[in-house]
Amino acid sequence: MTIAKKLRMIVLLSAGTVPVFILLFALAFMMQSRAQERMTASDSIARAAAEINIHSGHYLRHPEESMYAKWMGAYNSAAKILKQMPVKDTENRVVVDRMLRNLSEMNTFFSELAASSEKGRRMLSSRTADALIMRAGELTEDAFRLVAVSDEEIRSLNRVLIELFTIISVLLTLAVLLTSVALGRRISGPINKLRAGTEVIGSGNLDYRTGIRSDDEIGQLSEAFDQMTASLKTITVSRDDLANEVAERIRAEEALRQNQRFLETVIRNAPACIKLVAEDGSLLQMNPAGLSILEADSIEQVQGKNISSCASFKYQPAFMNLIKEVFQAKTGTLEFEAVSLKGKPLWLSTNAAPLYDNAGTITALLGITVDITERKRAEEEREKLIRELARSNKELEQFAYVASHDLQEPLRMVTGFVSLLEQKYKGRLDEKADKYIRFAVDGSVRMQKLIEGLLAYSRVSTRGGEFKRVELVEVFHEAVANLSASIQESKAHVARGDLPAVKGDEMQLLQLLQNLIGNAVKFRKPDVPPEVHISAQKKEKEWMFEVRDNGIGIKKENFDKLFQVFTRLHSREEYAGTGIGLAVCKKIVERHGGRIWVDSVPWEGSSFFFTIPFG
Ligand SMILES: Nc1ncnc2c1ncn2[C@@H]1O[C@H](COP(=O)(O)OP(=O)(O)OP(=O)(O)O)[C@@H](O)[C@H]1O
Ligand SMILES: [Mg+2]
Repeated sequence: MTIAKKLRMIVLLSAGTVPVFILLFALAFMMQSRAQERMTASDSIARAAAEINIHSGHYLRHPEESMYAKWMGAYNSAAKILKQMPVKDTENRVVVDRMLRNLSEMNTFFSELAASSEKGRRMLSSRTADALIMRAGELTEDAFRLVAVSDEEIRSLNRVLIELFTIISVLLTLAVLLTSVALGRRISGPINKLRAGTEVIGSGNLDYRTGIRSDDEIGQLSEAFDQMTASLKTITVSRDDLANEVAERIRAEEALRQNQRFLETVIRNAPACIKLVAEDGSLLQMNPAGLSILEADSIEQVQGKNISSCASFKYQPAFMNLIKEVFQAKTGTLEFEAVSLKGKPLWLSTNAAPLYDNAGTITALLGITVDITERKRAEEEREKLIRELARSNKELEQFAYVASHDLQEPLRMVTGFVSLLEQKYKGRLDEKADKYIRFAVDGSVRMQKLIEGLLAYSRVSTRGGEFKRVELVEVFHEAVANLSASIQESKAHVARGDLPAVKGDEMQLLQLLQNLIGNAVKFRKPDVPPEVHISAQKKEKEWMFEVRDNGIGIKKENFDKLFQVFTRLHSREEYAGTGIGLAVCKKIVERHGGRIWVDSVPWEGSSFFFTIPFG
């Protein structure tokens, strides 16, 4: 229900009570006026009764015609008033009827009095006069009673009127109060809530809802208010989104600028040449390092020129091909010879990739070129050195082979004749001569062995045999057979695990095993029979062999130098040998593409490992 309707209803209800009140007041006034009338009538009757009394007395004393008329006048007016007296209630009716009766009797008595006075009957008249006066007294009493009753009635009606007025006033005040409270609740409450809502919303809380639900204007206003808040929130959210997006975009732009500055700095300061090249090969952009490599004084000197022209003639087709491929979305690398603008020969290496625009179209070739002139020169130098080293190595090996081979013959002669000298002249010359001859024989024998060793060493590369499948088990047995004298003498136990077949030089592999097993037997602890074991392990790309012994062992610091020519860790008196055996082993293993190394604990034993790749 709308507020206007409610107000109208309240006004109508209030207006509806007014006639009721008027009616009530009218009734009370009517009753009051009737009581007033009655009181006035009673008053008049009392006065008439008093007059009758007086006139009766007068007439009795002076029974004159005028007195009679006055009495009758008083009687008639009293009778008239009594007859017209407005009395409804029974009690008063009884009084009025009694008064009427008394009045009628008074009339009778007065008539009798008048008649008797004419005839002179005094006795009778005095009794009638007493009766008349008594009736007149009763009449007056009744009249005063009626006056008192009417007065009381008026007073009580006045009280009723005052009470009624008070009650109505109180009721009206209450009604006004209740109506105002109700209206206050229905109108001021929601309005206050709305006002508070505006403050909450004003402070930024757009989730606030009045929650007022009523079917009047306030309800509609609240609903509209809530809708407005919701719309405001949507708008604010969109505005916030927009603000966030703008902030995000500003951040992104800043990041982009930062990136751009970073890229510019990198490009400007990069030591490599960074350039952009068009599809036809013309140079679009080049950084300072690029200009410096090409010995250009300014970008204008090279911009728009075909970049392939700086490559030497031989590399120009490859260069143009690289540009073509990059514009077909490929990447590529090219090392090429070039000439700077001032004629300096260069070696350059270019990495090229396509540069795309936002639509995914290739707009340029992005090339990063480094000056590799120095590196190329170094490489050439190194290759030259390697070639030279290989040549000189070969020459040296040839020389060693030739020298050791050719030295053998005269040495054999020296050894032979010194031995003859010893045999023929031992004990014939003096002691000193015997001793010198002995030294000469030893020295020449040792020299022979050294030269044989050297020859064997140089033969590994110069006289190597062809590689073929070699059963290492057979080679092992052959090596053990060749070493049988020393094995027996030392009471050595030489055992093996599973040994594979490998691709290699059979003679050299025999020499390898023989040298390693020979050493294992030779470098034994005094009074401890040697235990030698050879085994093989299959690795990812090669076989790994181990020759293990329980000999004297080797200190860690000597591990590497063992494999150098002439390295010996003991005196000749302790253990015989030339110190070439392991050097030969290393050379044989390396010729087969493998490695050799040792692991050992002094006085516990040694393990010599070598690898041979799968054939
Ligand atoms: N199994 C081993 N146990 C302990 N020491 C070893 C062993 N094998 C080699 N050596 C040490 O390494 C040195 C070099 O060995 P290498 O085989 O080259 O020489 P050599 O045995 O002394 O002489 P050659 O083998 O030329 O007759 C040896 O003198 C020895 O001191
Ligand atoms: Mg040896």
